Amino acid sequence: MNLTAVKGMRDLLPADTIWFQRLEDAARSVFALYNFDELRTPIVEPAELFSRAVGEDTDIVGKEMYTFPDPPGDPDGTRLTLRPEATASTVRAYVEHRMWERPGLTRLYYMGPMFRRERPQKGRYRQFYQIGAEVLGGDGAWIDFELLAMLRMLLARCGIEGAELVLNSVGCALDRPVYHAALRAALADKLPQMCADCRRRAQTNPLRVLDCKVPADQPIIAALPTIHDFLEENCRNHFALLRQLLDAHDMHYRLDPRLVRGLDYYTSTAFEFLHGALGAQNALLGGGRYNGLAQSLGAPASAGGGIGFALGEDRFVLAMQAASAARQTPSKSPLMALLLPLSQAELGPALELAERLRRAGVRLDLAPPGRKLGKSLELAAKLGAAAAVIVGTDEAATREWQVKNLATGLQSKVADGELAAHLQALGN
Ligand code: HAM
Repeated sequence: MNLTAVKGMRDLLPADTIWFQRLEDAARSVFALYNFDELRTPIVEPAELFSRAVGEDTDIVGKEMYTFPDPPGDPDGTRLTLRPEATASTVRAYVEHRMWERPGLTRLYYMGPMFRRERPQKGRYRQFYQIGAEVLGGDGAWIDFELLAMLRMLLARCGIEGAELVLNSVGCALDRPVYHAALRAALADKLPQMCADCRRRAQTNPLRVLDCKVPADQPIIAALPTIHDFLEENCRNHFALLRQLLDAHDMHYRLDPRLVRGLDYYTSTAFEFLHGALGAQNALLGGGRYNGLAQSLGAPASAGGGIGFALGEDRFVLAMQAASAARQTPSKSPLMALLLPLSQAELGPALELAERLRRAGVRLDLAPPGRKLGKSLELAAKLGAAAAVIVGTDEAATREWQVKNLATGLQSKVADGELAAHLQALGN
């Protein structure tokens, strides 16, 4: 039997990880400017965390979670889940460690793998990678604005142009019941023609009907009342202020009253950034406000509200690659040298030299000992090394090294004390 990676999960090879590293480096440096600190939570959480935070009625919790009993095989064991997203874990950690007691807002970011058993396709995987950030402890519209401004900076640093910000308010605790009632009333005589999910959601959480993707249901959904007619005063003011701030800072967005997102914790602001280069899976990132989530996980009212986003690294990288097709592809720093021990006897001195040079900052690798010189030089050229250092009996004894400059083909003798600086000069 051929063993391969699990369906929907893939190996990220060095040609991929170099892009992921570039994105992660850009994100860390932008997050630092906005005073975010890193949080690392476990990849496994109690299943109940997601059913409570993300919502029983979502596709994620209903159909896509990898859940298993602990101990394995024990039907009465604790149900554990591979995290499908990290907002729930972040808020759990915020509550568990009483972080609201620290001074100021709590700004946290995370990076790592998430797991959803979705139908795999380009840009959609069962193990995918997110970078996310959450601001906890406040609910001002300026916080929402700053989060979106931070995303604008990150997109620019990654060279991604043409991402579209889509914005909505999904209402607050006070207006939701009124809006739900209006939706139920509007749906009452349409439900028999609608899909089974819509029929169920109309009872459990009518807002989720707006998230239906079944083409035949779309005309009915388009005619439903929008939440904007039901927003209570605070929620309406919050959204109006956010829009004013975005306008004042030249941040363009498209208002989409049907944008409800696939997770139930959202209140008021909800947003996505879409990108044309991504095909069907065109959401680069998504997020929104979730006031009340910390409280539903046991925090007091003083723990405040929250807002955050998560970007799909796999999709961000596709957009970065599309943007840089004409520009330079990132490449790793080239090797400064390949050491060539001419026989097994020179392996010891070569290893000793390699360690000394690396301590001095030289990026190098070793050729297998005792190979023909010509073959080792070919290897050095294929690896893109700037120089080859020949380690033979004489060199090991005298500590005067033969260095071949692989760009010019010239060979010279270099004294031991000058070797590191010489190789760095050739390799930089
Ligand atoms: P989400 O919209 O479910 O939100 O996911 C955020 C982003 O993760 C998506 O826009 C997409 O780029 C990426 N993504 C999601 N599923 C997949 C997949 N199967 N394959 C590849 N990429 C995927 C959340 O996860 C929320 N926790 C975001 C958030 C943070 N809201 C508030 N704070």
